[in-house]
Parts: sequence; C-alpha cells; structure tokens
Amino acid sequence: MTETTNPAPPAADADWWRSAVVYQVYVRSFADADGDGVGDLRGIRERLPYLRDLGVDALWLTPFYTSPQVDAGYDVADYRDVDPLFGTLTDFDAMITDAHALGLRIIVDLVPNHTSSAHPWFQAALAAGPGSPERELYLFADGKGEHGELPPNDWESIFGGPAWTRLPDGQWYLHLFDPAQPDLNWRHPRVRAEFEGVLRFWLDRGVDGFRIDVAHGMIKAEGLPDVGFSSMTTGQRQSELLGKGRLPYFDQDEVHEIYRAWRPILDSYPGGRMAVAEAWAETPQRLARYIGPDELHQAFSFDFLDATWSADSFRKVIDTALAESTIVGAPTTWVLSNHDRQRHVTRYGDGEIGLRRARAAALLMLALPGCAYVYQGEELGLPEVLDLPDELRQDPAFLRTGESRDGCRVPIPWSGELAPYGFGPEGSELSWLPAPATWRALSVAAQTGVAGSTLELYRAALRIRHEHPALAGTTGGVTWLEGGPGMLAFSRTGGGTTLTCVVNISGAPALVEGYGRPLAASEDLTEQGSGHLLAVDAAAWFERR
Ligand code: NOJ
Repeated sequence: MTETTNPAPPAADADWWRSAVVYQVYVRSFADADGDGVGDLRGIRERLPYLRDLGVDALWLTPFYTSPQVDAGYDVADYRDVDPLFGTLTDFDAMITDAHALGLRIIVDLVPNHTSSAHPWFQAALAAGPGSPERELYLFADGKGEHGELPPNDWESIFGGPAWTRLPDGQWYLHLFDPAQPDLNWRHPRVRAEFEGVLRFWLDRGVDGFRIDVAHGMIKAEGLPDVGFSSMTTGQRQSELLGKGRLPYFDQDEVHEIYRAWRPILDSYPGGRMAVAEAWAETPQRLARYIGPDELHQAFSFDFLDATWSADSFRKVIDTALAESTIVGAPTTWVLSNHDRQRHVTRYGDGEIGLRRARAAALLMLALPGCAYVYQGEELGLPEVLDLPDELRQDPAFLRTGESRDGCRVPIPWSGELAPYGFGPEGSELSWLPAPATWRALSVAAQTGVAGSTLELYRAALRIRHEHPALAGTTGGVTWLEGGPGMLAFSRTGGGTTLTCVVNISGAPALVEGYGRPLAASEDLTEQGSGHLLAVDAAAWFERR
C-alpha cells in the first residue's frame, strides 16, 4: 500500500475552495431567459435551485463581459460591464445575491492576456500610430525583411496561422489567439494597475474567485526570440508543445510576479476569495509554481483530463498531481471536461461505452481529495455533438485549423419533447447551436427521479461526498489497494470510517470483496458470495466502519 497525502486541513470557511465541487457554467449555453437563443445571467439565476439541488458548492461563469464575441466572450472590450447579450450589471448583482443566499459561490473568468480589438485601448493604439505611448500597452513591432513585410518572429497563433497581423501603417501586432484578441504588454505598469482595478471591481461586487484565462501567457521572453520551428517549416504546430515543452511566449518566470501582486489583493477581502489558473507548463513541477500561499490557489490539472482510459494512466496522473500540490501546500484540482475539449463521454469511446466510462470516471473524480470541476451537462452524460453543420460552427479556430470546439458548447437540454428542450422560455425555438434529437432523453426533466440516470448518479455522489466523513475536507491520504491488473482501487479514511473507490478497467467483470457495504455504483452491482460483481467499465464506492 502506498500513501499520498493532500495538504494541511482547512480550518475555516475561508478554505472552502480546497474541497469544493465547482460547476462550470458556459453562460451562452446554460439557460436563456430572454428567448434570443443565447444563455444569459437571468437564465442562470432562474436555474440556481437546480444547481443547489445537484449539490455543487460554486459556479465558474465563462466571460459575460462586453465583447464582440469573436471568441465567445474571451475577447473583452469592457472588463467592468456585462454584454447586453447576457444582461446587465443589475442582473449580475441579483444573480450573485441569490446564489449566495442558496449557499453557492461565484467564480468569474478573468481574461488578462489579451483584450478585444474593440477595446478602447486598442482602438486608441491603432489611431495613435507607430511609436506612440498608446501602442506601448500592446505588443506592436516592426516587421523583418527589407520593407518590414515579414512578421517580427516565427510565433504561431494557438488558433493556427501566424501570431502577427500587419496594419496599413506597416507595423505588426501580436495575437496569440485570434487577430481580434491583441496581446497586452504586461511589462507596462498601466496594464498591471488596470487589472488590479478590475480584480477589485468584481471582488467589491462579491465574487468569490477568478478563473484566470491563459494564466501562463502574459509575459513574453525579452526580445521576442524565435521558437525555431513552425508548421510552415516542419509541419509541427507550436501549440503541440503546450504542456510538454518550452515556448518563448508561455510560462516565463516573470509571470509569477503578477500573481504575487494579486494574492494580497485577494487576501485583503473576507471570506476566502480564490483564483484558479488555466495554465500550461512543461512539467507538473513548473505548473505547481503557479499555486501556493503567495500566488494562486489552484491550477487546473489537465493531465487528469488527458489520461487515457486505463488504470495505470489514471494512477500515474493522480499520484503526480497529489504529490506536486502537497509540496506547495495547495489542493489538487480534478477536471474531466470543459468548453475547450471534446466531452469525455466521447473521448472515452462515445455511445454506450463512452457513457459507462464517463459515469465511472465521475465516481473516481468525486472520491479524490481536493477540488473537482464539473462542466455543465456532464451530469447529464452529454456526448460531444460531432455532426454540427460547418456553417453553424462559430469557433474562430475552425476557419484556421478545421478544429472546432462547438461540439461541447451545445445548449443544455432541460425539458420537453422538442429542441432546444427548454433552453429558452416556453415556446422559444431559438438556440445558437442546435441540440440533437437524442438529447430529448438526456434532459434534466427526463432524468430527474429516474433511478440509475446519470443525473441521479451525480446527485447521489455529490451528497455522499458532502456528508461522508471519509471524504470530508482535504486531509487524509489516498491509499492505493492492489486490486489486480486493470483495477483501480483506493481508500480514504475519516471519522472512524473508510471509503473505498473501485474502478474496473480490466475488461472483464470483477469480484470485489472486503471493502464493506456499497454506497454508490455507476452500474448495478450483483451480489456474489460475500462480495459484489463489478461490471466492466464501472465504478463503485464501498464503506466500512
Ligand atoms: C482559453 C479559453 O478557455 C478558450 O476558450 C479561449 O479561446 C482562449 N483561452 C483564449 O482566451
């Protein structure tokens, strides 16, 4: 048996984030109160009781700020206002008041690496021309070549193509994403001051935390050196190094200064305000540098999301994540899906197999110590929508790379017989992406109260996670148990009880015995002798007192 421990116990409520379950609300696809086919803040407010009953602790809301919506709101034109598409600041205030009254915390998305090209700063920089102080807020540069006709370096946009766009006045500007998302110059004090003000603006409005977009990207290597290869030269895209290699525009040491300046701001507010980094680094060790008592509270562990459906693969990423976070005194975060990645039902094989595995993965994730992020719709077992017609796809990456993230962003089915299944107000037929006919059976209404449904499985697991002394808090270790090849089994203890989670990835039904009585299972368990038969690709929780 091997033991891996998570860091010191939370004493007060201020440490709520250490063991929370955070539900990611992809705002434009959650619930549409005004009937325009796009989700909004009023829609979220109306559905808060659903989330309370589901049993999550907090919501992370994707960007709802003023934006031309070139990259679904990750192109912000005004960081201190709500886009009319999603409502008003008054709607935000009403939503957060209701959420808090229901015991739900609110985390908002902060997008500091780049603004929208419609942001007044960028517009002023365009108008002011080369050499102006306005241009210093972004990364403008002269091109190479005799007439500056070549980009300043070989950097590539994550969305494909060069990361530089040339203006009619001859200068180029950097955009690591879409040309409508110019990168800010984080070595400029005005940029730093502005974002500290934005943090305070939302903290003053009561938010409990921030999800930091591209948290590894704000500082670029001095002199903007070439990467040395590009898709043009080798066919390998630079973005393939994300999470695997070094790039001069990501994970520069100086970026940590920014977070060391932010942490005292967060700590100066009561109630445990937190921040979670969307960061990609070469190694888990470098990723762990974003978290700790003087920087951010958490960083998403995408290795868990990327783990293949095998016991070894899961065990390896779990051990590494627990060990790294223990060193820096922060909890681990677990995530299976988000708005950028193919939904895990589909990643694990799609159809019935994918759903079985996704349900088992939910029990695995929710039994681990630390904080879990649930992406909206995973509690319904939604698969990726693979057959969206090209003309409906809206992801800006689609045109440049042919890869599209729209299939995981289709609006949630709530109820009814016809698409969009209660996404909008009664009778509304609009939804910005169409839901497939198969989603009628997956709606919240269709699954509520139905024994064995994925929704009821999540509800039961979340209730047990909250109540069970062995799963409470972040203390205690994960004790691995030898269950044979392809069996993933670990236990946690607390309050005089032991909870064991077993996942069967062995390819054949497996007899599980000696762990006590079953508390939850992703597929029906069959009693056999003194134990239980756990089906293929299924997981179960057992309790022994
Ligand atoms: C990460 C976000 O999750 C993604 O949706 C967005 O396109 C990029 N950052 C750029 O902001």
